[in-house]
Amino acid sequence: MAETPPQDLLHAAREAQAKAYVPYSHFPVGAALRLADGRIVQGCNVENASYGLSMCAERNASFAAVTSGATSFREVLVVGETAGPIAPCGACRQVLLEFTDPAAPVWLVGRDGTLRTSLAELLPHAFSPRDLDSGE
Ligand code: THU
Repeated sequence: MAETPPQDLLHAAREAQAKAYVPYSHFPVGAALRLADGRIVQGCNVENASYGLSMCAERNASFAAVTSGATSFREVLVVGETAGPIAPCGACRQVLLEFTDPAAPVWLVGRDGTLRTSLAELLPHAFSPRDLDSGE
């Protein structure tokens, strides 16, 4: 069964993807987050001549959302030029989990494939803010 992502989030992520700064990888990625209050926040990847300083689209979107005052994401969409659904890196999975319910929809979009998944599936047995509470 074909998976159809929400068009408003897809449009926002593609708009961000078009602004990606990727002179080294030539691999533009866009991310869009639907916040708990309904707003959509965008992010793109931004690379650097010192390669290790590059930052992924998902984390740029997450940090922009927090800067705008939001710490709860209701839905996530990531788009990249992979053949199948793009796979967020481990660091981005961990950062998204900080602000997203593990069961919330995460849409991964590639050129010919879309996957609807969740952070529970993407990052099983994760360390989360709840684990810090149980250490007290
Ligand atoms: N990248 C992202 O922005 N998000 C992903 O989900 C995968 C990878 C970026 C990092 C780097 O700028 C480029 O894609 C190639 O790894």
